[in-house]
Amino acid sequence: MKQILLLGSGELGKELAISLKRIGCNVIACDAYENAPAMQVSDKNEVFNMLDKEKLNAVINKHKPDFIVPEVEAIETSVLIDAEKNGYNVIPSAKAVNLTMNRDRIRDRAKHLGLKTANFAYAETEEELILEANKIGTKVAVKPVMSSSGKGQSYANSEDELKVSWKFALEGMRGNRKRVIVEEFIDFEYEITLLTILEKSGKVTFCNPIGHFQKRGDYQYSWQPADCSQDVIRNAQNAAKKMVLDLGGSGIFGVEFFIDKKGEVIFSELSPRPHDTGMVTMFTQNFSQFDIHARVLLGMPLPEIKIKQPGASHVILAEENASGDYIIEGLEEALEDKNVDYRIFGKPFLKSYRRMGVVLAPSLEQAKKAAKKIFVKAK
Ligand SMILES: Nc1ncnc2c1ncn2[C@@H]1O[C@H](COP(=O)(O)OP(=O)(O)O)[C@@H](O)[C@H]1O
Ligand SMILES: [Mg+2]
Repeated sequence: MKQILLLGSGELGKELAISLKRIGCNVIACDAYENAPAMQVSDKNEVFNMLDKEKLNAVINKHKPDFIVPEVEAIETSVLIDAEKNGYNVIPSAKAVNLTMNRDRIRDRAKHLGLKTANFAYAETEEELILEANKIGTKVAVKPVMSSSGKGQSYANSEDELKVSWKFALEGMRGNRKRVIVEEFIDFEYEITLLTILEKSGKVTFCNPIGHFQKRGDYQYSWQPADCSQDVIRNAQNAAKKMVLDLGGSGIFGVEFFIDKKGEVIFSELSPRPHDTGMVTMFTQNFSQFDIHARVLLGMPLPEIKIKQPGASHVILAEENASGDYIIEGLEEALEDKNVDYRIFGKPFLKSYRRMGVVLAPSLEQAKKAAKKIFVKAK
């Protein structure tokens, strides 16, 4: 049996672990806390800080996995670069993981490849942020170069707001690089994730585009297929293909785009792994993004990907000031709609706005209605 070292054990890792186990793999799930979602369905677990070079090296040497599969950005990627040099398979590739760990590196890469992006600059001090923001325009987005799920991310319209944004970014940043990206605010019409599959042979295939809506920089609901024009699809596919071929390796990528009022496709960011907005594929596609990632990383033939039925996902969140033990209520009520399904992630404790589960339904309206009936309550 192939040994998979899963670096990150959240809800995406859990579904990936299930897909991998179904096709005969052994999964060693890693994360910084015990009983993380993927650890509940894996063969073995390792609890340690994946930003710690020595610990990460020790875990790789202990298990000698056939594949190292990152699920989060917060990993000491220099270890993965060395591991790949020493013959380990890093999914999709050490280069992809390294370039996407920090927003600045992948953004520079996109620009280098000629993709259209929002105007952007970097800042390492409050003064620099104000200076760069003034060059970009009135409204900007400020994000730590290393963070995810909207952490430390805000918008600013004035010098005072930029000062608040700087502080907020410092609090939300992961790792030790005190650096933010400041971006032109795009008043987009809608945004999409294009799940893009890269096989070892270099063949690139796409899933149907996924539309999504974000709040506090975090996804709230998504739907597939998104209603895009043929032009938008073609332009997004061309851009995504350029990116994944440049990053190389094999696996599924979540490539995010903004579509502006003129129908222009603007590259936003990329995850070299399944994407949170792609959870909808568990409901809509014959093979979910997790099944696809599992197959492709193993070098198995890619099945034909079809939409079984259109659908939507809606997150089930903890409340703003939540912490500690919890119960989830209202699931039976939500299932009064016979076409609704759900996943509960089994996270061991609450945090502010933590994603605890997801509702899956044939339409956005049904997903929203069902999600409204579900409550995550602190015990
Ligand atoms: N420059 C921007 N203009 C307008 N909205 C933005 C911009 N950057 C980010 N956003 C909004 O914030 C969301 C999260 O930002 P993103 O860069 O994808 O961060 P994360 O890595 O946390 O997902 C985006 O999906 C989008 O809705
Ligand atoms: Mg994103």
